[in-house]
Amino acid sequence: MLKSIFFLFIVIWIINDTKSEASKKDFIDEFRKDNSRYWLISCTLSGCSLAFNSCMNCFGERGCKSCISLSKPECAECADDIFNKDDLEIINGNEYLICDSQDPIQSRVCHFYCRGQFAQSGQCIRENNLPICKCFSDFGSSTDSTVTTQTTQPANTTTTSQSTTTPNKPSIFFNGTVKQNISISDHYRRILPLPNGDLVRGSGGNLIEIWDLQKGIIKRNLTSVYSWPWVFGLLSNGDLVAGFRNNKTILVWDLNITIGEPLKRIIQTNEYFDCLTVLKNDDLAIGQTLVNNPWNLYDIIIRNSQTGLIKNKLVGHTFVVNQIIELPNGNLVSCSSDNTVKVWNISNSALIKSITHTESVWSITMLPNGNLVSGLWDASINIWNLDTNHLIKNLTGHRNSICNYNCLHVLANGDLLSAKGGGIFEVWNLSNGKVRFTSSLHKYDTVYQLAFLPSGNLISASNRELNVWY
Ligand SMILES: *[C@@H]1O[C@H](CO)[C@@H](O)[C@H](O)[C@H]1NC(C)=O
Ligand SMILES: *[C@@H]1O[C@H](CO)[C@@H](O)[C@H](O)[C@H]1NC(C)=O
Ligand SMILES: *[C@@H]1O[C@H](CO)[C@@H](O)[C@H](O)[C@H]1NC(C)=O
Ligand SMILES: *[C@@H]1O[C@H](CO)[C@@H](O)[C@H](O)[C@H]1NC(C)=O
Ligand SMILES: *[C@@H]1O[C@H](CO)[C@@H](O)[C@H](O)[C@H]1NC(C)=O
Ligand SMILES: *[C@@H]1O[C@H](CO)[C@@H](O)[C@H](O)[C@H]1NC(C)=O
Ligand SMILES: *[C@@H]1O[C@H](CO)[C@@H](O)[C@H](O)[C@H]1NC(C)=O
Ligand SMILES: *[C@@H]1O[C@H](CO)[C@@H](O)[C@H](O)[C@H]1NC(C)=O
Ligand SMILES: *[C@@H]1O[C@H](CO)[C@@H](O)[C@H](O)[C@H]1NC(C)=O
Repeated sequence: MLKSIFFLFIVIWIINDTKSEASKKDFIDEFRKDNSRYWLISCTLSGCSLAFNSCMNCFGERGCKSCISLSKPECAECADDIFNKDDLEIINGNEYLICDSQDPIQSRVCHFYCRGQFAQSGQCIRENNLPICKCFSDFGSSTDSTVTTQTTQPANTTTTSQSTTTPNKPSIFFNGTVKQNISISDHYRRILPLPNGDLVRGSGGNLIEIWDLQKGIIKRNLTSVYSWPWVFGLLSNGDLVAGFRNNKTILVWDLNITIGEPLKRIIQTNEYFDCLTVLKNDDLAIGQTLVNNPWNLYDIIIRNSQTGLIKNKLVGHTFVVNQIIELPNGNLVSCSSDNTVKVWNISNSALIKSITHTESVWSITMLPNGNLVSGLWDASINIWNLDTNHLIKNLTGHRNSICNYNCLHVLANGDLLSAKGGGIFEVWNLSNGKVRFTSSLHKYDTVYQLAFLPSGNLISASNRELNVWY
């Protein structure tokens, strides 16, 4: 009895298997008949092997196309054909480049196809008896992200020494006098000061600008095929992390590399980045919008900055997360346009508390005594005791709303600086809750972001200017 059931099972299994093997064979024969792989013709006829040899380390579709066609102009068509999406076969919903490992040209084409997708290499293999091109990367991939490691050589680093000391947060000061005033013509983009005094600034296109603030000039551009660099962070080794909003892609750059390719890693995600904070252990805490039907999701995603893999999701915010800060005990505090500030334990993803405000919360900071300051869209600034959830003070000064990003800072003397729309800066005496003095940009401009330089000077970014303040 048992034997016959087993036999029946084997028979069904064999029938199923031969059926699918037969349909695969049909498929391959069919495919060979209407050979749609144009590259098979253009790359062979133009004799592109030599051009291929010099482009093995090309990077990105655009980079690989231009390398191949620059090495040998006759191969421009071949290069275009390699990345022609019509040449891909859709099998079980996945797109494959079909290739034969026995043929050296086909193997190379597979490699370039994968380099074009920012993978490290590609190989023609047989998978389920299909001759497909498979891409390989150092860190493998998951359903949530793929990481590719940039291997372009040669690369030269200006320094190789490894420093383990992290610079302490400087004492920040602000007396309302402009130290430096740099005009910009292309509107506000987010900024990030670097430890050497330079400034990273995003662009509306593909560039990340690195400014020499002393000279007031762009000294270097980081280019990529991704667009709208919008969130920035620094890892403990000085690597720059940049999230490109349009492509939901994070790039990691080694800024020490001044000759050769500084791009180290590419992390493909599913999310539009709203804000990013690098945690003490170099994990990334990302406030993001995941487009989802019927409601978008605004979970905070914790990613390993090396592998790109998701370690945790903090679920609870119902609208855009505007800023995330890490407390000394490792908990995170986040503020959101859903009118709440939330405190999280990231080891178990637990929501510890949620403080509801009267309006969207744009910026937060912690006071040295552990109290939380939150800046709201309705212009008020709240001070909370985080242990008791008790509102200690409601500071109401200038009626413009708090500026967009990172707009509250505690100064060296304990005063609080707030930046508001209309380019207004207010310095508060927290003992009596009164404004000590205000300062402003010229009346047609508005401040969007504050940051502090390693020198302790504050820098503000507006539509027209970057201003460093005494
Ligand atoms: C790297 O730097 C060394 C020392 O400065 C130099 O000799 C070498 O040529 C450089 N290599 C490249 C590829 O620039
Ligand atoms: C870059 O240079 C700095 C300063 O010399 C050093 O501390 C850091 O470790 C370097 N970063 C990398 C990724 O090598
Ligand atoms: C950076 O890019 C901008 C815009 O393309 C260009 O005007 C500028 O000359 C570049 N600067 C450097 C240092 O490459
Ligand atoms: C990034 O996004 C932009 C705009 O959507 C698009 O034009 C560009 O091709 C994308 N880059 C890559 C590498 O996908
Ligand atoms: C966070 O949760 C973990 C696991 O429950 C616990 O061990 C840790 O003490 C918590 N952290 C804080 C700061 O409470
Ligand atoms: C703080 O003051 C502002 C302006 O008076 C007011 O609109 C707001 O409701 C107050 N917030 C709280 C939490 O009382
Ligand atoms: C801040 O307010 C306290 C309490 O009213 C007062 O004693 C102190 O002098 C004020 N500080 C400054 C710098 O105005
Ligand atoms: C910066 O310079 C511009 C042009 O000279 C001027 O209009 C503006 O008021 C200055 N900004 C500040 C904050 O002083
Ligand atoms: C702010 O500090 C700078 C540099 O010390 C000084 O020149 C300026 O007069 C100060 N401004 C005010 C309003 O005290």
